[in-house]
Amino acid sequence: MVRNEIKDVLAKAKAGDAVAVAGWIKSVRESKSVGFVHLNDGSTFDSLQVVVPESFAGREKILKQITGAALYVKGILVASPGKGQALDLEPSSIEILGECDASSPVQKAGTSFEFLRGVAHMRPRTNTFGAVFRTRAELSFAVHEFFRGRGFVMCHSPILTTSDCEGAGAMFQVSTLDLEKPPRGADGKIDFSQDFFGEKTSLTVSGQLEAEILALSLSKVYTFGPTFRAEQSTTPRHAAEFWMIEPEFAFADLKDDRELAEAFVKHLIEHVFKSCERDLRFFDERVEKGLRAKLEAVAKAEFGVIEYTKAISVLEQAGRAWNYPVKWGMDLQTEHERYLTEEYAKRPLFVIDYPRSLKPFYMYCNDDDKTVACMDLLVPRVGELIGGSQREHRLDRLLARMKETGISAEAYSWYADLRRFGSVPHAGFGLGFERMLMYVTGMENIRDVSLCPRVPGFAKF
Ligand code: 4AD
Ligand code: MG
Repeated sequence: MVRNEIKDVLAKAKAGDAVAVAGWIKSVRESKSVGFVHLNDGSTFDSLQVVVPESFAGREKILKQITGAALYVKGILVASPGKGQALDLEPSSIEILGECDASSPVQKAGTSFEFLRGVAHMRPRTNTFGAVFRTRAELSFAVHEFFRGRGFVMCHSPILTTSDCEGAGAMFQVSTLDLEKPPRGADGKIDFSQDFFGEKTSLTVSGQLEAEILALSLSKVYTFGPTFRAEQSTTPRHAAEFWMIEPEFAFADLKDDRELAEAFVKHLIEHVFKSCERDLRFFDERVEKGLRAKLEAVAKAEFGVIEYTKAISVLEQAGRAWNYPVKWGMDLQTEHERYLTEEYAKRPLFVIDYPRSLKPFYMYCNDDDKTVACMDLLVPRVGELIGGSQREHRLDRLLARMKETGISAEAYSWYADLRRFGSVPHAGFGLGFERMLMYVTGMENIRDVSLCPRVPGFAKF
């Protein structure tokens, strides 16, 4: 189908140009016997106004179409006498590609995000979700641009895995065994040796461990892929399926890791300023007032850094009645994280050096023998955006930690081998892609930045 994208028409065309556009109707109205049809093809936020004169053949049928119907319009652009647009399209022909049934769930403006989650197959037609998914694509491009520009090699780490990177056990199992009557061993337990892979297998919670394989030969790599967590979390920031960006680089310590993370977040924000101008204007006006100014400040600010131990005393001295009492050794809860970044630091804040009892086996043990060289980047509104660490590259320390945390030395022998055969200091982190998208769009629920969100009790579409 020969057509001009509405984005190009609005940005580049001029009065007198002949164009052909295709799209879905945003609105139809009639005034003094002239019909106005706003057509949007998703290439950009704004719609093109098609002005249907009284004399237009077939006019009545066209103006009976409703929001959501698809049209193919050929015509000539003219300077618009009306407000709100520079150009109108005067049609020479209008073809109705697909009528829209009146039962369409996205007829009215102002339907709630919650309602729209139930009709996720239709919500990208709305202004908000169109903007979210265009921004998501731009942000994804910016991820590759950032790492490629710094010489990082893209790595496709596996999605099916036999290792549990975060050690939390919140994994979705993958099996071809008959769930009704799985084979059992003499001990009555399920015999996974008869399963497809010959052992218990799951969807990955993180591409990190396998990315370390490649980082310890190509020096600088990153993964960007889907990850899965079977946590029973129904918070607005947790999804069972989400995308994570995980750089992993050799000859690096925690400070290098932090610097990379800060530059990365700033690059993503700057890319949104550069390439999502129109959609950002909408988010700023309609989703979170003042979003742009906040992001501008973040792009310029130096992120804060605080040790976990210091953060605990800040929280103790905050004079607050915490729901979760604060004491050294506890994991920070949302209320604590938000206080630290929103009220104490008033900017993105790295909390570093957590007690090792709170963290997975692979993190580098600090000299105090109590904490590990790790970082969580907390940002206002979203909370934890990044988790990362320097990795334990000393074989004896790693094996001791595996033992302490009950990790099988046999199953992870390949991981230990990376410390046997030319081990070097290395570090990395994981940034939750949807959380970053929430951060730059102002959207408050992770379910509203994923095409088809997967959360406990819901995997429709
Ligand atoms: O802090 P996490 O669990 O770290 C890791 O998985 C490391 N292996 C990463 C690494 O060092 N390579 O997860 C990293 C980030 C979190 O900071 C958060 O942004 C996001 O992933 N995340 C989630 N996003 C949405 N839904 C969930 N259930 C998430 N769990 C983690
Ligand atoms: Mg974390």
